Amino acid sequence: MKSKTVFCCSECGNEFPKWSGKCQICGAWNAMTEIHPEKITQKPGTSSADNPAVPINEVSEENEIRFSTGMPEFDRALGGGAVRGSLVLIGGAPGIGKSTLLLQMCGSVAENGKILYVTGEESRRQIKMRSGRLGIANENLYVLAETDLEAALEITEKLEPSVVIIDSVQTLCSANLNSAPGSVGQVKECASAVMRAAKTKNLTAFIIGHVNKEGAIAGPRVLEHMVDCVLYFEGVSSTPNRILRAVKNRFGSTNEIGVFEMAQNGLIQVSNPSEMLLAGRPRDVSGTCVTCVIEGSRPIMAEIQALVTPASGNVPRRNSNGIDYNRVMLMLAVLEKRGGMVLGGCDTYVNVAGGLELDEPAADLATVLAMASSYKDKPIGYDVAAIGEVGLTGELRPASSTGNRLSEIARMGFKYCVLPVRDGEKSNLPETLKLIPVKNVRDAVYAVLSR
Ligand code: TYD
Ligand code: MG
Repeated sequence: MKSKTVFCCSECGNEFPKWSGKCQICGAWNAMTEIHPEKITQKPGTSSADNPAVPINEVSEENEIRFSTGMPEFDRALGGGAVRGSLVLIGGAPGIGKSTLLLQMCGSVAENGKILYVTGEESRRQIKMRSGRLGIANENLYVLAETDLEAALEITEKLEPSVVIIDSVQTLCSANLNSAPGSVGQVKECASAVMRAAKTKNLTAFIIGHVNKEGAIAGPRVLEHMVDCVLYFEGVSSTPNRILRAVKNRFGSTNEIGVFEMAQNGLIQVSNPSEMLLAGRPRDVSGTCVTCVIEGSRPIMAEIQALVTPASGNVPRRNSNGIDYNRVMLMLAVLEKRGGMVLGGCDTYVNVAGGLELDEPAADLATVLAMASSYKDKPIGYDVAAIGEVGLTGELRPASSTGNRLSEIARMGFKYCVLPVRDGEKSNLPETLKLIPVKNVRDAVYAVLSR
């Protein structure tokens, strides 16, 4: 067969028969790389006799076998523990703590089976030093400093571990391909080889992948759809807060998060994230409002900060961090039109404290109130929280799971909660919490800023 070359966009992972300067799908410039597909598809053939089609009611209903990582927050992000025979991709910026997380996991998992830690980034000694600092020493933990895929797989075959860790997929390199380590072809080939090993030997593989500044794993999004579970380790390196977020999970829910704090001796699990996220909240200053969001099954408190000041240039600057920019612009427009504030000539910055990423409409009201508070330079009470979605006419709509949110708000010691009128009719509320039901944005601003 004539060998055919395809071109793959390193940003979105789409393949094209021809090279072009700009990717037609994602629009990235100069991202096409050449790959040779006939070298990649070297899968072991299975005959149809071994693998017949089965009627669905004859398929066994056996649950997947899970084991604990020894870290409840990690288990939570995985959807209740790691699944035997699955491939988990841990993505994150360099230096965020991915290696630390997996090495810490080894401490407890090595009690029950062999682990092979393949490192292409650090030497064996460096891993040893780090594990010493983390207090992990178990004879079941094997370290292999290797960048050659085939060699790593061969050792996996011999050692028969129950867990394999690849740190990182960008350093691994297959001799079957002549492209450089970290290129689309290599990353794809290495991940699929590890995937095959995981499925055939029923071992659990964790692959670390560095993300580039656009947030895609090593440019290629290609890995995301190959693997069973994708977890992103997020956070700002200058602050200790770390969030492990599931973005894909074939064996569980995808909106669970695990919360950690990076400390001197490794990652500490944060079982009460609200406390951590609200720690250091300023008192009696304008431009901050607290809300409660639901992350997976857990209500978590978040502080939204806003700075609205007269523009320094001709064109006002707007920026948002931890919350969708377009959503903030929408809230700004609603506040101007329905809240009667002249914001057109103001620079506006919105930030979610603690490195949390909000993508819930229930945070709308708190965003609006934080901006109004900054504009009027009037603080919102320290014991006031706000939940609710804001519509284009300035009306407030109820948030989902209001009961859960209100109990968390009460538990964190808040005395008042501003919320949409329809939510305010709920019964069996925490006794210590007083509700301030409001109809629209204008009423909400009036209720909190003229108290
Ligand atoms: P690391 O796990 O090497 O990050 P990644 O594998 O994602 O690139 O962690 C890097 C940072 O974590 C490093 O800057 C030091 C910090 N760290 C601690 O603060 N405490 C610790 O106990 C460890 C092991 C690392
Ligand atoms: Mg690392």
